[in-house]
Amino acid sequence: MAAPTFLHCLLAIWLLSCAAHAQLSTTFYSASCPSLEAIVRTGMNKAVRNERRIGASLLRLFFHDCFVQGCDGSVLLDAGGEKQAAPNNGSIRGFGVVDAIKAGVEAACPGVVSCADILALTARDGTFLLGGPTWRVPLGRRDSTTASRALANANLPPPTADLSTLISLFRRQGLSPAEMTALSGAHTIGLAQCLNFNGRIYNDANIDPSFAALRRQTCPSSGNRNLAPIDVQTPGAFDAAYYRNLLAKRGLFHSDQALFNGGSEDALVRQYSASPALFRSDFAKAMIKMGNIHPLTGSAGEIRANCHVVNS
Ligand code: HEM
Ligand SMILES: *[C@@H]1O[C@H](CO)[C@@H](O)[C@H](O)[C@H]1NC(C)=O
Repeated sequence: MAAPTFLHCLLAIWLLSCAAHAQLSTTFYSASCPSLEAIVRTGMNKAVRNERRIGASLLRLFFHDCFVQGCDGSVLLDAGGEKQAAPNNGSIRGFGVVDAIKAGVEAACPGVVSCADILALTARDGTFLLGGPTWRVPLGRRDSTTASRALANANLPPPTADLSTLISLFRRQGLSPAEMTALSGAHTIGLAQCLNFNGRIYNDANIDPSFAALRRQTCPSSGNRNLAPIDVQTPGAFDAAYYRNLLAKRGLFHSDQALFNGGSEDALVRQYSASPALFRSDFAKAMIKMGNIHPLTGSAGEIRANCHVVNS
């Protein structure tokens, strides 16, 4: 809440640092914007009723925000080229929903709530509205004044990644291999473009042949933007089918199947496939941890008036 004082910082020297370690809080806006969570929920309800996939798209948008400079709304900025980084260009979506919700929040509590926090809430609500777990979202992030295409290209995992690459990219963000395996369960919802999995369905050996044949029907080996569900069983429902698919060699991305290919995450994939309740609970915890990646707090950054642009 209150920015750390000089005295706090002196004390905190014992513990290494100050501003960078300021805590987020689930009650951050309870006095300054009590209607925030209701406004976001109403907006997300409307958006998901209009297009179910949007719940998945906002979950992914938050992930892509957090892995680049921390959860600071950088992915929402039009300048800086982050939106055009390879993992984002022609792929990330949901900006219109963030804008509509931000407009409602600004009308109720002008100048108070960051775009980064609104994005964190839309990811939680998108997950929940598609049948997933819910959790209290720690809040108090402020918005960046910069975005970075280079960091997005360097930090966001490609769908061609092997397990060692996935583990090291998540470790870089302070997330363990187990948390990476839980968070990857987000691929139980949403759609993907052919160009992100054509290599797998034409070249990989560890794939169920009938699943490969099914996906090849709408995805040529040269790749294009045709869409397919990431979870072949229940693409509109947040459940544990993603892990059951991996056991059956029906992971859509090379990186999905890398979690169950004779390596360190095999056991956890089996556990999640057998225990959806364990997956839901670990996913919620890992989302809170991911949401804690390098937030801007105190007087760092700003509260953007328009999520697309830095304040003038
Ligand atoms: C583990 C490494 C990961 C890789 C390599 C990866 C890669 C991808 C790719 C390539 C797509 C399809 C994009 C497109 O074709 O336009 C996708 C979609 C998606 N990803 Fe991931 N992802 C990873 C982790 C995550 C995490 C941690 C989350 C969230 C917690 C997430 C949530 C999603 C969702 C929900 C979609 C569907 C989005 C939509 O339908 O709009 N992914 N991912
Ligand atoms: C992003 O996609 C657009 C439209 O497909 C394309 O014209 C542009 O060159 C791409 N930008 C980058 C940096 O890849």
